[in-house]
Amino acid sequence: MLKRSIINRSIEIAMKIFSASGLHLPEFAFWSPAEWEKRGRECDEIRDCMLGWDVTDFGSGNFSEIGRTLFTLRNGRHDDPRYPKSYAEKFILDPEGQRAPAHFHRSKREDIINRGNGFIVLELTASDPEGNPTGGTLQVAVDGVSRTIDSGSRVALKPGQSICLAPRTIHQFWGEGGDGIVIDGVRYGVSGEVSSVCDDRTDNVFIHGASRFPGIDEDEPRRYYLCQEYPAAGA
Ligand SMILES: [Fe+2]
Repeated sequence: MLKRSIINRSIEIAMKIFSASGLHLPEFAFWSPAEWEKRGRECDEIRDCMLGWDVTDFGSGNFSEIGRTLFTLRNGRHDDPRYPKSYAEKFILDPEGQRAPAHFHRSKREDIINRGNGFIVLELTASDPEGNPTGGTLQVAVDGVSRTIDSGSRVALKPGQSICLAPRTIHQFWGEGGDGIVIDGVRYGVSGEVSSVCDDRTDNVFIHGASRFPGIDEDEPRRYYLCQEYPAAGA
């Protein structure tokens, strides 16, 4: 179970770090649960496309090492003609030492962009048609320049650099070193993701299993809704 106190704190750190990095969030990033009670059907796109805050430990019970805090700014849906956007964008907080579990996407193609001042390091592995890691090489493009790398090797992005990951590329990435902002002894990197539509309910394959939306231990009041928690309009 992921503690609500960790979620609240992570969102507030992300607000500070994104702002200090020049990444300004939309208004709904700051709406409290009380503010959401006043919102009606006009906000259905936020609810239905799962825009907003997303904090998870992937069921690890060890958020500082396996976890993620991110904000989805835009997204569409393959299964709903009301939301025809074919693209998505996220801002991701990258505390040093924390990463998401190794995974690939069945259909999503994503660019990971270093939006902060530290390095963003990616570990990239090829997969076979069954989704198992393989050796050999794989093809990636860093800012439009293609390179062939060994499966399982790492690529470090400097501030401003980006990498395009094709579907089925197994990836993990994290912030490391550089001039990332430090809060309470933890250095933070920042990345962005620009991708095709993101469907976190069906498109992710975690190599060692994971729970994308874990249970939450309500050890203190919620300060912000997560993207999977919004109440229905008029609820
Ligand atoms: Fe991913």
